[in-house]
Amino acid sequence: MYHIPVLLDESIENLVTDKSGLYFEGTIGFGGHTKAILSHLDDKAKFIGTDKDIDAYEHCKNKFKDDIRVELFKASFTSIIDISNIAFVEKFDGIFVDLGVSSFQLDNKESGFTFREDAPLDLRMDKSKGKPASFYLNRADEKELVEIFFKYGEEKNSRRIAKAICSYRLTNKIETTVQLKGIIEEFTPERFLTKTLSRIFQALRIFVNNELGELEEFLEKAVSVLNKNGRIVVITFHSLEDRIVKNFFKDKTRVCVCPPEYPVCVCNTTPELQIITRKPIIPSEGEIKVNRRARSAKLRVAKKI
Ligand SMILES: C[S@@+](CC[C@H](N)C(=O)[O-])C[C@H]1O[C@@H](n2cnc3c(N)ncnc32)[C@H](O)[C@@H]1O
Repeated sequence: MYHIPVLLDESIENLVTDKSGLYFEGTIGFGGHTKAILSHLDDKAKFIGTDKDIDAYEHCKNKFKDDIRVELFKASFTSIIDISNIAFVEKFDGIFVDLGVSSFQLDNKESGFTFREDAPLDLRMDKSKGKPASFYLNRADEKELVEIFFKYGEEKNSRRIAKAICSYRLTNKIETTVQLKGIIEEFTPERFLTKTLSRIFQALRIFVNNELGELEEFLEKAVSVLNKNGRIVVITFHSLEDRIVKNFFKDKTRVCVCPPEYPVCVCNTTPELQIITRKPIIPSEGEIKVNRRARSAKLRVAKKI
């Protein structure tokens, strides 16, 4: 099992409103949601999928090779507009992303996402772009490191960890997951170690992949290529991501953006979205029991008006 899809029924129920429609999934991963979406679509439908991880892309390319409705791209979901042009699609009836990383990426030694294995400290989903986490750890100043750990990992010990990294790199280059683990292990009580390491690795991953910036860029573009009554469905795993989605949906429902002191509206704003989920949908206890990685998932849905 490469990955157990999270909130599967809830995603499909909210996404598919036209079984002959055009659909975009930005995070195909190992095709769990893709398979379920396709099973709810008929022969006239079209499905476009992206993933920036080469293993995920190749896995799905092979998995769906006989389905002529499917067109896949190894790309960031921020390329949604370029990709819709390439695929001759003007607007979509449903757009879906299931953010973060797959279990395969987390567990696979070569991905360098896990502190449980000794591997190069990389953490990029697309290893052909940008720089690995080790690059930043060896160069960023102490203040920047504190910010990354605190903002993206909500790690209370950020200062101490950043200081230890800066002191370690005076005599050693940080190249591997095990080196980083060793630095943190030195002063972290055993009972807090796994949680601390998870937070630090998560923070570095979010930073290295510019996950929040890409999400903001994607949401704006996605709404521009969504058909009237089309749905946008987003699953997040981090409070900062969820806040971005929640605020974005809210902003797009506004009827006026004039400063409050204006006596009459002059902005002529028209709302673009209607929120379908006032509160996010979260996994049931049953789902979390079977798949612990589902525990922080939140699903939000909006409709284009
Ligand atoms: C949680 S997994 C998706 C799992 C998938 N729903 C399934 O059922 O197998 C998230 C996937 O999104 C990909 N990903 C994350 N950010 C991305 C981005 N900006 N553009 C494209 N793919 C991205 C990751 O590489 C990963 O494969």
